[in-house]
Amino acid sequence: MTLRLFGVTLLAATAVAKEVVVLSTANFSETVGTKLWLIKFYAPWCGHCKRLAPVLDEVAAAAKGDISFGKVDCTIDDRLCTTYGVKGFPMLMVIQAPTRWVYNGRRKKDDLLTLVARMQMPAVRPLQSASDLEQAMEGEMGSPVVFMQGRSAGAADASAATEALAAFDAAAHTLKHTDVFVSAAQPELLRKLMGGTELPTLPFVARLERGEEPRLLTEVATQASIEAFVGTQRVPSFSLADDSNFGTLMNVPKGNGFMPLALLLLDPESTGKDGPLTMDASFEGVGGALRTLSREPALRDQFVFAMACGAEFEEYLKEIYFIDRSTLPRLIVLWKGDYFLGFFTTLRSFFVDTPGEAADAASMRAFLERVASGAEGFGEFEGRAGAPARWWRLAKGYMPQLHTLDWLPRGTFVLPPVLLVIYLLFKLMSAPDAEYYERELAELQGARQQAMAKAAPQVEPLKSKKGN
Ligand SMILES: *[C@@H]1O[C@H](CO)[C@@H](O)[C@H](O)[C@H]1NC(C)=O
Repeated sequence: MTLRLFGVTLLAATAVAKEVVVLSTANFSETVGTKLWLIKFYAPWCGHCKRLAPVLDEVAAAAKGDISFGKVDCTIDDRLCTTYGVKGFPMLMVIQAPTRWVYNGRRKKDDLLTLVARMQMPAVRPLQSASDLEQAMEGEMGSPVVFMQGRSAGAADASAATEALAAFDAAAHTLKHTDVFVSAAQPELLRKLMGGTELPTLPFVARLERGEEPRLLTEVATQASIEAFVGTQRVPSFSLADDSNFGTLMNVPKGNGFMPLALLLLDPESTGKDGPLTMDASFEGVGGALRTLSREPALRDQFVFAMACGAEFEEYLKEIYFIDRSTLPRLIVLWKGDYFLGFFTTLRSFFVDTPGEAADAASMRAFLERVASGAEGFGEFEGRAGAPARWWRLAKGYMPQLHTLDWLPRGTFVLPPVLLVIYLLFKLMSAPDAEYYERELAELQGARQQAMAKAAPQVEPLKSKKGN
């Protein structure tokens, strides 16, 4: 079977079942060479590595094209693993010297097969027609969000333009394992893809998503600016969150940390549908209202937007966020936090609306605005575990300046009561002993005698007069 995609011919049927070969310090470089490899760095004792092993064997056996599979035991070849920057196990890396791509996505068979297929496609897929774009947005090798460079159809451009093309190619090469990049040059096609409006000056970089306005990279296109743009813009403007994309949704960079995720929890039963929640719920009711909010630039720049099935995550919501399914729909904000001096200041912060508040656009907007401005104390959830956060909110009610301490880990807010208890214990343990009281008493008595002695001259003469 010959598959023609984006002008590239993939010979699909010629696949020979592959194996995951053992690589060691001695033979790594010569074996890997400059060919395309997917390599697992692992430790024999690690549980995730054990689970990955049979999956990787299956992937290798089913993989098509010119890619090889290897594994390195980091308990034996630790220097090699250090050289490749291995920090946790297992680490999956695609290597085609001199480039390395670290894969942090899901490690199911299908995900890895998608990775393997993507890695063999050109980093920038040239579009010839609008249906090529459809193709780039669908299927396992596609992505709902696509980054496009509009190029001029003419011959050699000015050198700045040539640099911009090279920058786009380089960024696409670096990020081809996670994102989809395309280019288009015909003016007619470009106009169509950009929604029929006046075309920006060529070349330009735009983010395309079905049903959404194209978003332009406004900075000068350098590899770094394109990579940063992709990093902040890669998630769809509104997603259905599940295990497969949750990590991506939570890891959108923003400033010194990450973008908070505004997550609408919906009970599919309450929307009158059978079965699990689908994207349909984002076109109607409270789901549709949040989707509309997600397009407002002020909110779009502050949050990643998604919805999740409250039935599917019922247990989880109850245990971690103390949210009862009967109180859905609810809007919660999950936030990985910011870095402070290289450390996370908050590992998992979350904000929860009041039950019943998520019912309409106005209250959702008000809630999100409160979160964005810092007026909503984080970790405000119900139940006993929410107590520290509620104290914190109360304290901030009296002293608004305390908002500046919001970056502190949530655990910090149990500190004052803990410190109080420690202080009281300390007081108790260092309680004065009997001798102390005796000394105190002696001192007091001494002081009294002195005082009396001082007072005596005024009293004595009277007495002595009387006595005489
Ligand atoms: C590389 O070396 C290791 C350890 O000596 C050996 O087990 C493995 O088979 C070698 N791999 C290749 C591809 O030669």
